[in-house]
Amino acid sequence: MSAEAEAEYFSKDFEWETLRQEIEDNPSYQYHLLPFTYTPPSQQEEIQVSEDSKAWKRFHLRHSSGKFFKERRYLLKEFPELVSCKEFSKVLEVGCGNGSSAIPILRGNKDIIVYACDCSSETLERAKEIVHSTDIFAVQNRFHPFFCDFAFTGFPKWLVCDSCVESSSLKQQEYSSDVKEGGVADKSGSYVSRECGCCIGGVDIVSLIFTLSAVPQKKMSSAIMECFSVLKPGGLLLFRDYGLYDMTMLRFEQEKRVGFREYMRSDGTRSYFFCLDTVRDLFVGVGFIELELEYCCVKSVNRRKGKSMQRVWVHGKFRKPA
Ligand SMILES: C[S@@+](CC[C@H](N)C(=O)[O-])C[C@H]1O[C@@H](n2cnc3c(N)ncnc32)[C@H](O)[C@@H]1O
Repeated sequence: MSAEAEAEYFSKDFEWETLRQEIEDNPSYQYHLLPFTYTPPSQQEEIQVSEDSKAWKRFHLRHSSGKFFKERRYLLKEFPELVSCKEFSKVLEVGCGNGSSAIPILRGNKDIIVYACDCSSETLERAKEIVHSTDIFAVQNRFHPFFCDFAFTGFPKWLVCDSCVESSSLKQQEYSSDVKEGGVADKSGSYVSRECGCCIGGVDIVSLIFTLSAVPQKKMSSAIMECFSVLKPGGLLLFRDYGLYDMTMLRFEQEKRVGFREYMRSDGTRSYFFCLDTVRDLFVGVGFIELELEYCCVKSVNRRKGKSMQRVWVHGKFRKPA
């Protein structure tokens, strides 16, 4: 593991509360804390949503050399379920980019199957090239990239179709009432055995790694609902993203603010910075059960510039009720 990856994993270099106090007491950061007045949503704004994926497409075209790619090896330590999950578990990597998260997931468990989507077909092509050039076991059969803007159109029905979702929730209801009545429940109708030909029957794990922050704030809840819908009952959602008062947030100038804790870069891509309560409200709000939620606070030193940087990420793990 590289020193940088190690640094991202060991996550308690400073207390987030101390950083919060410093930032909130510093007059030069006050504009980050001000409430943001939203204009009422208009048709124009709805169109704007697809502008977000166009911005990401342009981003990937500009970074097609592959420098943007950095394998996130620390993921397997942060989320050991990716290694210990049952044989042939299906993972959906949402917003896969060049495969920075997909590759360690494929490497960490030789039986895992990774479905990976992105709103840029260019980056999907690049991801395919990079993944297929690795020596990972049977990778051609285990990596399935596909195009999708999950915040705008939702996931395709071949992941899980309406009739499977419906019969699964009926089974779930029957199962819970059987359990309540002390009867023996038959769980065979769950997604697991539902390879019915109409869809793949949902996935066991969804990973959302630095992708939700790119989704417009007003679309986040429905985007998470999409993730909830494609998960099998009892499935896991693994979350990692920018945390409130991360160094990159504090570098945004006032005119880059497009919402409360939401910023747009000059290239049109956006970034939101999460506090734990916002993440909790978003995920628990659509029905997830919280398993883990914390800040990862890492001090990293830029040796060339001799500057120390305080990085903040949010780490979360949620379960869909069984
Ligand atoms: C910061 S990158 C993270 C990539 C990857 N998950 C990782 O671990 O490095 C965010 C990715 O999300 C994609 N993305 C942004 N909005 C999306 C959307 N609405 N639907 C699908 N992909 C999206 C971008 O194209 C980009 O590749």
